[in-house]
Amino acid sequence: MDDLRDKYIALIADAADEASIEDLRVQAVGKKGEIALKMRELGKMTPEERQVMGPKLNALKDEINSALSAKKASLADAALEERLRSEWLDVTLPGRGRRQGSIHPISQVTEEVSAIFADMGFAVAEGPQIETDWYNFDALNIPGHHPARAEMDTFYTHRAEGDNRPPHVLRTHTSPVQIRSMEKIGAPIRIICPGRVYRADYDQTHTPMFHQVEGLAIDKDISMANLKWVLEEFFTAFFGTSVKTRFRASHFPFTEPSAEVDIQCSWENGSVKVGEGDDWLEVLGSGMVHPKVLAAGGIDPNEWQGFAFGIGIDRLAMLKYGIPDLRAFFDADLRWLRHYGFASLDQPTLHGGLTR
Ligand code: DAH
Repeated sequence: MDDLRDKYIALIADAADEASIEDLRVQAVGKKGEIALKMRELGKMTPEERQVMGPKLNALKDEINSALSAKKASLADAALEERLRSEWLDVTLPGRGRRQGSIHPISQVTEEVSAIFADMGFAVAEGPQIETDWYNFDALNIPGHHPARAEMDTFYTHRAEGDNRPPHVLRTHTSPVQIRSMEKIGAPIRIICPGRVYRADYDQTHTPMFHQVEGLAIDKDISMANLKWVLEEFFTAFFGTSVKTRFRASHFPFTEPSAEVDIQCSWENGSVKVGEGDDWLEVLGSGMVHPKVLAAGGIDPNEWQGFAFGIGIDRLAMLKYGIPDLRAFFDADLRWLRHYGFASLDQPTLHGGLTR
């Protein structure tokens, strides 16, 4: 028994890993291990011998078992020590920098415009970009044969052969939202609608997709004077100073009378500057809502009247931030976006000051 004990204590001390500990356990104290075999020999002994040998064997078994678990624990400790030593992490290293995205000038200007009109009591409305030609044209007093339809270079949706429904269009302006809002809200009404619009057109100041914000105010006694005040108030807030504007008599099927508004600018040295030079950039169309348009929206033109306007958001962004080429807005060139983009935590509010 002493030999057995010395043998296993030595083997356990030498064991290098958990697997050899397990092997030794099976060999020594397992069901068919050496101790178990010795236990079997108890049967052949005299009762006196058995009284001496039984407890001794049990004590030996206990001793080996505790040597095994002590060794197991110390191997686990050593493994942990080794991991702590090798898996070393320097928490003082500087973090890896992440590029911050930026807010596109169009988004920025849309927010600015919304903040200014919200301050004047206008709510924000929305409409679909794929529109029926009734909302986009007919309801706005632009009938089928009207030259304005051709002027607008409309994108029409494709219809399958034999499908004779009138086509849908990519809306050519935000004006259809006037009709949708009249239907939804009724009179009185005061809304703006910013959004994407589409026309087949492409040069330095035109892209096939661009942005407008529509405005609509309907009440009992709204006049052209209210329109002019609202627009001038808007420009002053938007540019942070009063800028020279030019109201030109014009024509739109959906307004009577109508006016277009230009802003004074120059195009020198590869940038556009507002409020100087002798160029003008047209930024909006406006007028008193045509009685037929009110009627199409379900509002009685004998009782209500109002003004409407449609502003080119992209044009405003070009003017305010000195961006000379509209096409670059939609090139997704990261260098351009980093240069002209805005910090995301820098969102415009009237009380915070619009420009930074
Ligand atoms: N819808 C016109 C356009 O896209 C702009 C416009 C002109 C909107 C006069 C209006 C308006 O609401 O009254 O060119």
